[in-house]
Amino acid sequence: APRSRVAALLNASGPLENVLVKGWVRTVRDQKGFAFLEINDGSCLKNLQVIAEGGEGPYETAVSLTTGCSVQVSGRLAASPGKGQDWELKAGEILLIGDCPESFPLQKKRHSDEFLRTIAHLRPRTNKFGALFRIRSSMALAVHNFFADRGFVYIQTPIITGSDCEGAGEMFTLTTQAKGETLAPEKDFFGKPAYLTVSGQLEAEMYALALGAVYTFGPTFRAENSNTSRHAAEFWMIEPEAAFADLNDNMALGEELVRHLASHALEKCSQDVDLFARFVDKTLSQTLDNIINNDFVRMTYTEAVEALQKSDRKFQYQPMWGKDLQTEHERYITEEYCKKPVIVYDYPASIKPFYMRMNPDGKTVAAMDVLVPRIGEIIGGSQREERLDMLQARIKEMGLSEEEYWWYLDSRRFGTAPHSGFGMGFERVLMMVTGVSNIRDVIPFPRTPGNVEF
Ligand code: 4AD
Ligand code: MG
Repeated sequence: APRSRVAALLNASGPLENVLVKGWVRTVRDQKGFAFLEINDGSCLKNLQVIAEGGEGPYETAVSLTTGCSVQVSGRLAASPGKGQDWELKAGEILLIGDCPESFPLQKKRHSDEFLRTIAHLRPRTNKFGALFRIRSSMALAVHNFFADRGFVYIQTPIITGSDCEGAGEMFTLTTQAKGETLAPEKDFFGKPAYLTVSGQLEAEMYALALGAVYTFGPTFRAENSNTSRHAAEFWMIEPEAAFADLNDNMALGEELVRHLASHALEKCSQDVDLFARFVDKTLSQTLDNIINNDFVRMTYTEAVEALQKSDRKFQYQPMWGKDLQTEHERYITEEYCKKPVIVYDYPASIKPFYMRMNPDGKTVAAMDVLVPRIGEIIGGSQREERLDMLQARIKEMGLSEEEYWWYLDSRRFGTAPHSGFGMGFERVLMMVTGVSNIRDVIPFPRTPGNVEF
């Protein structure tokens, strides 16, 4: 018989003969004369209950099994008289594939997230992390479908780059080795310094100004030494970029995307998301409903700072015009002041990168951040400066070199056009739809300061 997945068996429309499953044993219950096995194969949250009867054969094998070992079970799928499942597998034969000694760290009890981080290679065998990474996979497809439905072309921008998109100097530098020796920079592979990308935006802009609307979705890297629960050194970013689109179009697209992803999680990942709603964040469904059913509030940066200054909340950092909003400020605005997602726009030019479009006031740029309750910033973006002279002036003002950005400036020399885009942190999206509060728990092998064990 061909192998069946547990998810398909649990949805069977009738009894089945000659069923074969392979998976890992979660529990063994010896009922003296017969035994229950719970088998999980990662295809869904639920286990398949196996009944092993008969003095010899299946029963003998079943009671010799331990939590964690891998097995193959063949038999008959029949209606289950017990509560909790419609179907169970009556074992004809059970074969041990891979033994699992008692030193297996995932014995049947609840483990702390901190402990599970130390065994990131084994944690996908738990219910929680199995569910998380099925959700992560489904959400990635939802992102691609969202853009495909709207005619955006998927562009794979480079991971190795020669330019600092954000101009923030938080790049990992590449060195090259030959026969174990680090090469001198002047003889380096590329003939000039190379880095891991912090954002695919600059390259995406070039393609938006050719294909009309594009997006990237790939890994990005930040050498910022911020040891927080929402920053990672390696994270995935979704970056749409559209020609002939202004800041309003950009805000509308960002809002639509966030809402689309929240509903996708609720509707298409309901079994897995429900686990998080029950055990991780009791307010999760409410939070997601709030995102799905409300228009996002739009307010300027200046209005946001005024609201913060008028509040009687004691902030660790005093909100001040010209200073970036801190997470505590973003959370106050979304969770207490507006009680829904908020798009803050028109930030001071002095705290934003060189590529953002200068507003007529000469002080603010056409920037936008989408903030959601519990998370804070989930999206950062802007309308881009499409005017060559303005862009050159900004590059100079910020102490960057025009020569370095020659190719970027070319796009403003040859048929420039208004365009806009944003970056959405994929891990922040996963935190939003699961209620998980630490970014380390939504990445298979997280990279944070001091953490590259695996
Ligand atoms: O606001 P950021 O830095 O914007 C950019 O990089 C732009 N070039 C994007 C663009 O316009 N194409 O980052 C965008 C988003 C943030 O809103 C946040 O969700 C996420 O990326 N992000 C991080 N996520 C996890 N760990 C980090 N260290 C992150 N830094 C940014
Ligand atoms: Mg940002």
